Amino acid sequence: MIAENIGPRARSLEAASLAARIKDEVKTEIEQMVKERGVRPCLAAVRVGEDPASAVYVRNKIRACEEVGIRSEHHALPESTSTAELLELIASLNLRDDVDGILVQLPLPSGIDETAIIEAMDPAKDVDGFHPVNAGKLAMGRPVFVPCTPAGIIELLDDAGVEIRGANACVVGRSQIVGRPMAQLLLQRDATVTICHSRTRDLAAVARTADLLVVAIGRAGLVGRDHIKPGATVIDVGMNKASDADQVRSLFGSEADKRLEVVAKRGYTLVGDVNPAEAAEVAGMLTPVPGGVGLLTVAMLMKNTLKAAKLRRKH
Ligand code: GUN
Repeated sequence: MIAENIGPRARSLEAASLAARIKDEVKTEIEQMVKERGVRPCLAAVRVGEDPASAVYVRNKIRACEEVGIRSEHHALPESTSTAELLELIASLNLRDDVDGILVQLPLPSGIDETAIIEAMDPAKDVDGFHPVNAGKLAMGRPVFVPCTPAGIIELLDDAGVEIRGANACVVGRSQIVGRPMAQLLLQRDATVTICHSRTRDLAAVARTADLLVVAIGRAGLVGRDHIKPGATVIDVGMNKASDADQVRSLFGSEADKRLEVVAKRGYTLVGDVNPAEAAEVAGMLTPVPGGVGLLTVAMLMKNTLKAAKLRRKH
């Protein structure tokens, strides 16, 4: 974790060095597994359709596999794939003894029954922790596979020395991927947890009570100074695109010129769910976007895939 001042107060919780450290640990264990037992873990990544963001995410996951020594397969299926066809692929991956982890990149195209696909996965290969068996075990306080983004956030908080026990934690967003499992993990670590969502009355008033605020709602810059208790730790899970110059200026303050250069080059800049210029004036710590929790998601996927291989192969 590298800390730097990004505003009058907030420390920036960069995740790059922690993500690299987690991947290094996984790499060392895999080298040992290969040397001692001739076993190399394997992750099957499945992507359906042409969503460009999903393509980037899956490419990053495959590249991380190469870095740590996990064998990977990339199953890229056309937009026209049916639920039945995808179920068939999942069934074949479930049966293959050489496949340790299965990752189906979400969201799937609207014609595919996402719930049926997730439920068809062998829970022992569910390295995303989305299967009801894994979600249920987490909710009971007996986690096996925990969704990668919230698991990475816990690692980041521990690495930064943020006290979770007894903290007032507020999770904004109730998705299966981030919000719900995040709340469960914080509860397990003895935080007092509030979950907010699109129907919460006076979000700012509730969020402002939190020592620890995790925001995962998918709305660019929604959380501003009014939502943040002075000195709070703010974790921004959002990953949105902004291209409007006025919006970029209001979000990035003194950093706006750099971001506008990115917009000129790429057509957009990445923006979290938190307004970083405002948050920097109030928060104690803040994760940047990009460079924050996104890097940890991939690192934790590598860790979960190693865990699946160890549990399945009784290492
Ligand atoms: N889509 C957004 N985040 C994730 C994730 O962590 N795993 C998968 N499979 N899909 C996602």
